[in-house]
Amino acid sequence: MKILVAEDNLFYRHLLASTLGEWGYETIAAADGTAAWEILRREDAPRLAIVDWMMPGMDGLAVCRQLRALPKPEPTYVIVITAKEGKGNIVAALDSGADDYIAKPFDREELRARLQVGIRIVGLQTSQAVVFAFARAVEAKSPYTQGHASRVTRYALGLADRVGVSPAERELLRRGGLLHDIGKICVPDAILDKPGALSPEEIAIIQQHPAQGVSIVEPLHSMRDIIPLIRWHHERLDGKGYPDGLTRTEIPFLVRMLSVADVYDALSSKRPYRNAIPHGKCLEILRANASNGGLDRDLVEQFARAHPRTLDGTETAADFDPYFQNAIDAERECQLMT
Ligand SMILES: [Fe+2]
Repeated sequence: MKILVAEDNLFYRHLLASTLGEWGYETIAAADGTAAWEILRREDAPRLAIVDWMMPGMDGLAVCRQLRALPKPEPTYVIVITAKEGKGNIVAALDSGADDYIAKPFDREELRARLQVGIRIVGLQTSQAVVFAFARAVEAKSPYTQGHASRVTRYALGLADRVGVSPAERELLRRGGLLHDIGKICVPDAILDKPGALSPEEIAIIQQHPAQGVSIVEPLHSMRDIIPLIRWHHERLDGKGYPDGLTRTEIPFLVRMLSVADVYDALSSKRPYRNAIPHGKCLEILRANASNGGLDRDLVEQFARAHPRTLDGTETAADFDPYFQNAIDAERECQLMT
């Protein structure tokens, strides 16, 4: 793994580079903050960096702040190194976006241990990035699933902001929303894109996608917390959902939120067998579904308040009519939410 060493002091720069080289790491050196920033902002930036705090021009903390403002799927892990001591300085370094902190003169064993922590974290981030890339590939499988996960996530977060959840729960909902249908990679395109009614066998195949999604993310420890959102997003409060037939209190709150957003997007998107349903009618169907024991009634009402207007410009009379002409059973559709 390549590691950036940003240090203006020549002695420390060489000492760090030779120590890291001795341990088998490849290094790239920067003699000031601006040079470090130029390297870190690149697409192929090193995934790990040791950055001195006090440098001429842009200091190490400014480099961290700028780096964290970059929207990068695989962020660089930064260890700030400095002669400054005391709790206040450690807090300032971490607040600026540094991942870790080590004092000068550095202890070799401590540096080695801290680097190993960084490498473990970088490995985890890489695995997560692969899973999210995989989820995007699932969406690209079919024109009818394109954009579904990101829209569901946006709708669910809008609902969460209205209801009020903790920042940790919001982040869980965001990650779960993006990955909730990852199991659809196992559903043949011919079923996902089928223009007509599905056979019982095809419905059974679709209904396997929550469990298949779980088996995809399960090996990653960092993904375990979103498993309920993947496994249970098709459960119903009356116990008639799948795959586990959970009832009201057994379905976690965040999962119930995700389900409302998921059904809304299923209804308001064009499907192989019908056009998009307009916003007002979607809300009507959500309410009917809640009355029949499917979705959480309170959350449906909160969703309607959080999203009072059409969300994706789908509302047209031309789109609306064929829905009735085809006499699709809305309740059945809400159960499937494919
Ligand atoms: Fe699903």
